[in-house]
Amino acid sequence: MALNTINPTETSAWKKLQAHYNEIQKASMTEMFKADTSRTEKFHLKWNDFLVDYSKNRINQDTIDLLLELANETGLKNAISDYFGGGIINQTENRAVLHTALRAKESAVINVDGINVMPEVYAVKNKVKSFTNEITSGKRTGYTGKPFTDIVNIGIGGSDLGPVMAVEALQYYKNHLNVHFASNVDGDHVQEIVKKLNPETTLFVIVSKTFTTQETLTNSETIKTWFLKSASQEDVAKHFVAVSTNIQKVTEFGINPDNVFPMWDWVGGRFSLWSAVGLSISLAVGFDNFNDLLSGANEMDEHFKTTDFDKNIPVTLALLSVWYNNFFGAESEALIPYTQYLQKLAPYLQQGTMESNGKSVGRDGKPVNYETGTIIWGEPGTNAQHAFFQLIHQGTKLIPSDFIGFVKPLYGDEDHHDKLMSNFFAQTEALMNGKSGEQVQAEFDKQGLSAEKASVLLPFKVFAGNKPTNTILIQKLTPKSLGSLIAMYEHKIFVQGIIWNIFSFDQWGVELGKQLANSILEEIHSKQVKNHDSSTGFLLNHFLESK
Ligand code: F6P
Repeated sequence: MALNTINPTETSAWKKLQAHYNEIQKASMTEMFKADTSRTEKFHLKWNDFLVDYSKNRINQDTIDLLLELANETGLKNAISDYFGGGIINQTENRAVLHTALRAKESAVINVDGINVMPEVYAVKNKVKSFTNEITSGKRTGYTGKPFTDIVNIGIGGSDLGPVMAVEALQYYKNHLNVHFASNVDGDHVQEIVKKLNPETTLFVIVSKTFTTQETLTNSETIKTWFLKSASQEDVAKHFVAVSTNIQKVTEFGINPDNVFPMWDWVGGRFSLWSAVGLSISLAVGFDNFNDLLSGANEMDEHFKTTDFDKNIPVTLALLSVWYNNFFGAESEALIPYTQYLQKLAPYLQQGTMESNGKSVGRDGKPVNYETGTIIWGEPGTNAQHAFFQLIHQGTKLIPSDFIGFVKPLYGDEDHHDKLMSNFFAQTEALMNGKSGEQVQAEFDKQGLSAEKASVLLPFKVFAGNKPTNTILIQKLTPKSLGSLIAMYEHKIFVQGIIWNIFSFDQWGVELGKQLANSILEEIHSKQVKNHDSSTGFLLNHFLESK
């Protein structure tokens, strides 16, 4: 089933939202809290060990009702069933979008072109399991018979960002294997990685859905050359494995077909960590933990699929984001996890969100006349507080922010954790309430500051407040809760794509740069700069002359 095509701005909900925005845009959240003591009760959701408080947003019940009307009018319900049911919703590539099948229960039946994909999904999952066990137990060894100590994931984009984020996030659950990531086609970075490695005890996992990606193939060849300085050609089969849909190219590289982990074209790169692309996650934390990550995602899938929209976490977060993006004109959103373990969450979700929803053509093939894809950025708190929070508090831009925190620390250090979390709570309160001129003056009076100095300083010390935040408070960072958290954001991306009437699962926008890079590479090799604009030509000539 194809997704429907509705320009959201032509829905009656959108028009009502516009009128509603005109009324509410300046409303103060602080005042709304004072006026309605049940506000938090109304605007929070509890699910499993997640508490999502969205009461610190510039909304009232009418806002939520109208946003829900928008979701209904744009056909979200049918779109969700197409998404989970294997409908060809990635229409420009003629593909289903089924990363949710990768974490579904074995008993599920999910058909693509009339064939149930679940037996294949579980066959690959079992292969990941036995391979992981053989490597972690030391049963499978390197070419000199020594157990593996190091894993290098070679991949880029979705074949890197998911694994690197999850391995970092689940460091606490890690085993003895050291996992490294080679993504950029930056030879210096590759050398920095291999210089720490012993070829006898290193396993290389080449992850490339297409096995045609320049960065990954170049890095793989360089690493193979480095490996062959110590080992023989036939040892390659013991030390290199691949995750790909392109079995022919993988075999040409010298990888034993038994060591190829298949994936499918219905898994988009940026949603692929649940497939064998997550092999390095499984190797790093063991298969059981990897499987828990998948179960956590599956539980969020069930919540998203079956819960009424007004109690549905991904739907609520997506609608709020549309509210700010399209009515308040907010261009970006910050993601602030209060745990260092989630330091790669923002870069991961940058691809998820911006590659998916960074589109300007609607599903009808016409340019959209409204804003789409939000810019995502962020860093863990409290570091972020000492870096860019100034701009969120007192800058000119509206930056709705998600604060993600955990009730329990992993090592049980309550002193640190209480300090960390007091910042977590303080920031959302400060962002909402700000600090008025009267409050600042009262502080000056207490300090005995002269009236003259006070009047000069006062405007700089005022915080306007009214900055929206969502608080996502989770019991503990576990493989399962991480799985649910990532799936929550995946579905938020999906909902926004549906409302914005765009195709979220293709990425044509990354192709042009790739094509130009290939032709410029030929010019660099032949030292012959062809026709370019004068800036590019000038830069290329300078590069070649200075080389
Ligand atoms: O950057 C574009 C992209 O196609 C991503 O969507 C994908 O994750 C990445 O390149 C890597 O592609 P592959 O897994 O085929 O090497």
